[in-house]
Amino acid sequence: MRYEKNVLTSEIYCKLRKSVKWSEQPKIEVEKAIKNSIYTIAVFDENNPVGMGRLIGDGIYFVIVDVVVKPDYQRKGIGTNIINMLIDYVDKETIRGSRSSIQLISEKGKEGFYEKLGFKKIPNEFCGSGMRKVIRK
Ligand SMILES: CC(C)(COP(=O)(O)OP(=O)(O)OC[C@H]1O[C@@H](n2cnc3c(N)ncnc32)[C@H](O)[C@@H]1OP(=O)(O)O)[C@@H](O)C(=O)NCCC(=O)NCCS
Repeated sequence: MRYEKNVLTSEIYCKLRKSVKWSEQPKIEVEKAIKNSIYTIAVFDENNPVGMGRLIGDGIYFVIVDVVVKPDYQRKGIGTNIINMLIDYVDKETIRGSRSSIQLISEKGKEGFYEKLGFKKIPNEFCGSGMRKVIRK
């Protein structure tokens, strides 16, 4: 398995999303989103893309999005490796004495995957609920 940094393309992105039956986005939007990402991981089995993850953010707050492992390749540790690479990136970017926050929205039922990687469910004793607003056109 090969883990490549910042080589994710809209073709790979769309293929992987389709493999887990996620909704499609217009190509122009996907290209803009990839370009605006601060860090992407794409995983290949030979030349076949089998996983991805993206990090977006501003240097203090980071958001993990589009974590996908192709169904035939799940439960082999690939998702864990992707998240650890994204966390490592943030760790290296965070200067001593400072603090960064990595946020994400788990799919229903996938919380255990992220909890094993050190993420805490919210609300908790320190935070209220995560909230979001979706704009559809
Ligand atoms: C969620 C996903 C990224 C996990 O990737 P993966 O490569 O299968 O995960 P790993 O093999 O690294 O799993 C590590 C551990 O996380 C947990 N885990 C993995 N998938 C899980 C799931 N679907 N539900 C709950 N826990 C899960 C397990 O404890 C697993 O350890 P185990 O295999 O020893 O039981 C993958 O299942 C996927 O792409 N799903 C479809 C898209 C999706 O839901 N993405 C996440 C969006 S928030």
